[in-house]
Amino acid sequence: MTAFWAWFVAIGTIVFVIWCVWLVSWSAKQGPQGKEDEDLVGHKWDGDLEEWNNPAPKWWLYLYFITIAWGIGYMIAYPGIGAFEGVLGWSQEGQYEEEMANAQARYAPIYEGFAAMGFEALAEDPEALALGGSLFASYCTTCHGSDARGAPGYPNLTDGDWQWGGTEQDIITSITNGRIGIMTPWAQVLGSDEAVDNMVRYVQSLSGIVEADEAAMSAQPQFTTLCAACHTPAGTGNPLLGAPNLTDDIWLYGSSDEAIRNAIVNGLQGEMPAHGEFLGENRTRILAAYVYSLSQ
Ligand code: HEC
Ligand code: HEC
Repeated sequence: MTAFWAWFVAIGTIVFVIWCVWLVSWSAKQGPQGKEDEDLVGHKWDGDLEEWNNPAPKWWLYLYFITIAWGIGYMIAYPGIGAFEGVLGWSQEGQYEEEMANAQARYAPIYEGFAAMGFEALAEDPEALALGGSLFASYCTTCHGSDARGAPGYPNLTDGDWQWGGTEQDIITSITNGRIGIMTPWAQVLGSDEAVDNMVRYVQSLSGIVEADEAAMSAQPQFTTLCAACHTPAGTGNPLLGAPNLTDDIWLYGSSDEAIRNAIVNGLQGEMPAHGEFLGENRTRILAAYVYSLSQ
């Protein structure tokens, strides 16, 4: 705030308070003038219901004075009048920093204890899991669900099947740097609608959803040349690229004709946002241990 606006706000505030005091005192003095016709304000309803010019009750006026006095006291104690900082020296930033320092002092020893523990031990430690659970509830449930079972496009973290790998380092990397799973669209390369249909069938046959009949097998050569680079020739996937295993019954986007067709025709781009910077190393490791424990 520049000096001009600080003074503008300060003067405006003070003038307004003075005006409030004047208004309340002035209206306290208004009242019956003694003559009957002047005591009526002139409004009339239903023939005989009239409005009298009586003063507001005393207790009502006192309430106004008390609120004004409260307001003045508040503005002396806290920032409120322009650039005046208030006699208590309170500020938003100060309060935030104080709370952060308190939290730091309280949690630092706890995190140091956790940092000294091995990953497996951490994933079995009730205190670490409780902390991990509450971090997960704050930062991860919007996408992965409160039970961590995910939704189409958002992986289930409880099933022991990992798109990007399930070791300590893999999970920490997923959370710290985020992950982007990219599969380009394939309909044009496959050439025809029938070729896409056959590929859908072939993918489904890999996990035994449908029989590996003639139509499905006719797509195998194309799978080997086009898809195997990421999904491997057997279709078992590659965690380095985030290419899912197509031979199990776990699906990121679904196993229906429609879901697989959509993946092949439109391509996919799943994104897990990076969380490392704002979670920090300690909290990330505890979250990773929590996620790991869910899959055990
Ligand atoms: C904005 C949505 C979103 C949020 C928030 C989010 N995730 Fe994710 N997460 C995803 C998506 C989408 C993927 C899959 C990325 C892909 O398709 O490759 C994913 C993938 C993952 C993976 C890899 C799973 C695997 O099978 O390899 C882990 C681990 C993970 N998330 C943990 C977390 C944790 C812990 C949090 C909270 C700090 C979190 N995620 C918050 C969307 C999110
Ligand atoms: C460049 C590497 C790459 C190639 C080539 C590729 N894919 Fe993928 N595929 C991926 C990735 C990465 C994902 C995960 C996308 C995500 O995380 O959003 C994926 C996902 C899928 C899925 C969804 C799986 C699920 O669990 O829901 C299907 C189905 C699929 N691919 C089929 C194919 C077929 C068929 C081909 C060949 C025509 C192919 N892919 C070629 C990388 C590839």
